[in-house]
Amino acid sequence: MAQPQASAGADTGKPPLRVGMVGYAFMGAAHSQGWRTAGRVFDLPLSPQLAVICGRNADAVQAAADRHGWAATETEWRALVERDDVDLVDICTPGDSHAEIALAALAAGKHVLCEKPLANTVAEAEEMARAAEEAAGRGQVAMVGFNYRRVPATALARRMVAEGRIGTLRHVRVSYLQDWLVDPQFPLTWRLRREQAGSGSLGDLGAHIVDLAQHVAGEHLAGVSALTETFVKERPLPTAPSSGLAAVSAAGTGQVTVDDAAVFTARFASGAVATFEATRYATGRKNALRLELNGDRGSLAFDLERLNELEYHDGTEPGTHSGFRRILVTEPDHPYLEAWWPPGHGLGYEHTFVHQARDLVHAVADGRTPEPSFADGLQVQRVLAAVEESAQKNSVYTPIAA
Ligand SMILES: NC(=O)c1ccc[n+]([C@@H]2O[C@H](COP(=O)([O-])OP(=O)(O)OC[C@H]3O[C@@H](n4cnc5c(N)ncnc54)[C@H](O)[C@@H]3O)[C@@H](O)[C@H]2O)c1
Repeated sequence: MAQPQASAGADTGKPPLRVGMVGYAFMGAAHSQGWRTAGRVFDLPLSPQLAVICGRNADAVQAAADRHGWAATETEWRALVERDDVDLVDICTPGDSHAEIALAALAAGKHVLCEKPLANTVAEAEEMARAAEEAAGRGQVAMVGFNYRRVPATALARRMVAEGRIGTLRHVRVSYLQDWLVDPQFPLTWRLRREQAGSGSLGDLGAHIVDLAQHVAGEHLAGVSALTETFVKERPLPTAPSSGLAAVSAAGTGQVTVDDAAVFTARFASGAVATFEATRYATGRKNALRLELNGDRGSLAFDLERLNELEYHDGTEPGTHSGFRRILVTEPDHPYLEAWWPPGHGLGYEHTFVHQARDLVHAVADGRTPEPSFADGLQVQRVLAAVEESAQKNSVYTPIAA
């Protein structure tokens, strides 16, 4: 364990919230930014401190600590979870370790933030949700990292749906399109192995859009009818551990054991119908998460590649001059915007992690269950399981377990 003297959090005079983070690559960097920035931008009841970062390689984790401003390092997550100077464990590892780390952290009395999808199986997610509920009785909180809820425009969309601005919901149309797997020579990283990732584009991208669609609509899905496909079944083995969406290939190949694409129709509890598409093969689409909702009084549309904007059509206006209009979601009374820049000075992807940290700090200080909770993560896991079951049964309509 190394203990460098790093500046580890904003000096706000507030009581500290000491974070211990496991995993330091893509999400590790994004979460570091969130923890580092939240207390400097928002007026928080506690001051997040970047206390300890954990990775299995001592040199690499030290380099990550230096780069992102963490005060100490560990090379074994069990040691991090047991430390007295850690209040909250932030899990930024692949899905196969989420349950084990989260359960140990909750048992050790820590608050937990766990990246999505909550787990690799419904059984794991059930155990995690149970443990989180018990821990809540001891004043601990647990949240899952569906950060796209925290784009100001999606938060505004949810508010507008709840205010009745689109009326009774009829359609939800969601897609999450990437293209980093188009090249068949892209190596077989952990995201392509079922034992590590749980599923492919379904758990990675599909989990996000299931959560976001339900969150904005304000209701749950009741059942799904699905197709999944693995286009490239064998890929070169990676030379070294991958990071994020990048990797280098070496000799030899291995089997892809997850879906490359998942497409499904769904029914909401209210009777609204929905379509979902998640793929890593949409050539030219880099991170295109699109959401459209149509109600009997209006419509809303969002595109992550234009994340400061929300399109709104007010169907109650006279047809002569009605139409979709662009709301520039940068006003101080828009969600999360009170603490940022003047109107028109937009935000980006990274700010969702600042907002995530902000909301979690408030939940810890208030002693209340944050959203999305582990129970919410479990519900999404059940949707993913229903999608897989339906796809295995030739798309038969599959109700989502309650
Ligand atoms: N919210 C989002 O937008 C978003 C985006 C990407 C990934 N994710 C999720 O975040 C998680 C991590 O994905 P990533 O893209 O950061 O992956 P990554 O490959 O970039 O990083 C994974 C990290 O975990 C570490 N790690 C793996 N097993 C470990 C272990 N047993 N002990 C300690 N460290 C371990 C690796 O060394 C690496 O630092 C996944 O659950 C993924 O689905 C979320």
